[in-house]
Amino acid sequence: MTTNQRRGRLPHERDDHYMRLEGAQIVATKALLDVRENIRLAIEAQAMVCIYGATGHGKSLAVNASLRDLAPQQTRRIQFRARPTTPGLRLELFHALGLSGRPPHQNIEFDRMLREALEEPWVVVCDEAQWLSKLCFEYLRYLWDDADTQLTIIFTGGNGCFQTLQSEPMLESRVYAWQELMRMRLAEVRTVIPAFHPIWADADPELIKTCDLEAAHGNFRTWAKITHHLVSGLKETGHGTVDEDLLRWSYSKLRTR
Ligand SMILES: Nc1ncnc2c1ncn2[C@@H]1O[C@H](COP(=O)(O)OP(=O)(O)O)[C@@H](O)[C@H]1O
Ligand SMILES: [Mg+2]
Repeated sequence: MTTNQRRGRLPHERDDHYMRLEGAQIVATKALLDVRENIRLAIEAQAMVCIYGATGHGKSLAVNASLRDLAPQQTRRIQFRARPTTPGLRLELFHALGLSGRPPHQNIEFDRMLREALEEPWVVVCDEAQWLSKLCFEYLRYLWDDADTQLTIIFTGGNGCFQTLQSEPMLESRVYAWQELMRMRLAEVRTVIPAFHPIWADADPELIKTCDLEAAHGNFRTWAKITHHLVSGLKETGHGTVDEDLLRWSYSKLRTR
C-alpha cells in the first residue's frame, strides 16, 4: 500500500506504542474494554461518541486497537495538530475517504460529493478533536445528520474536545456516549504494568509502586517512556533486571524545570 493509500487508515500495530517500544503489549485495561464497548455500540447505532481525557491516558491506542478488531476496513482517521478551517476539514475527509479526482472548487459540489461518499457505512475517527472549531464540529454534524449518510463518528481528544462539544447543545444532544479516560490508579498499575512489558514482568512490586508514585502517576505514556529509557539502560549496563538505581536514572530524564 502506498503512503497515499495509507492516509487515513488505522496505524500499524507496530506504531501503537510510544516510540515503537519493542516488546510492549496492549493491555486490556478497564478503560480500553469500555472504549471498545462504546465504539461497538456506536457503530451499531451509527452514532457519535466522545472519548476524552488528558494526554497519555491511552485514548488513541484504545480507539485504534478497538477499531482494528471491530471495523478495520470501514475506519478512516482524520487528525489535526492545528486549528483546521472547514475547507481544510473537507479536504482532509476527501483524502481520508480515498475519493478520486480533484477536490471540487465549489463548496456545494464538495458537500454533495462527501455526502454521497458517506452513504457507505464509514467510521470516522477525529483524533485530537480539541483542535476543531465550532464550525468544523458543525460541519461534521451536518454530514452526520443527513438522512442518507451512514456515518459513525468517534471524537477523541483532550478536555477541550469535551468542553466544545458540551457547549454546543446541537452537538451535545447528539452525542450518544461520553467516556473520560482517567489516569490509572495504583491498584490497576500493579496489575497492568507487569503485563505491559517483559522488563516489568518479574520486577519487585515495590519498584513499580515507587515508579508510579514518584514519576509515572498513572499516566500510560509516561510508563511507556520510562520503560523505553530502562530498556536502553539495561542494554548499556548489561544488567538483567531493573533496580532502584536504574529506575531513578531513567525517570530523572523526564523531569522538567
Ligand atoms: N491499553 C494499553 N496497553 C498498553 N499500552 C498502552 C495502553 N494505553 C496506552 N498505552 C501506552 O501509552 C502510550 C500513550 O497512549 P495514547 O493512546 O497515545 O494516549 P492519548 O491518546 O490519550 O494521548 C501508547 O503509545 C502506549 O505505549
Ligand atoms: Mg492521542
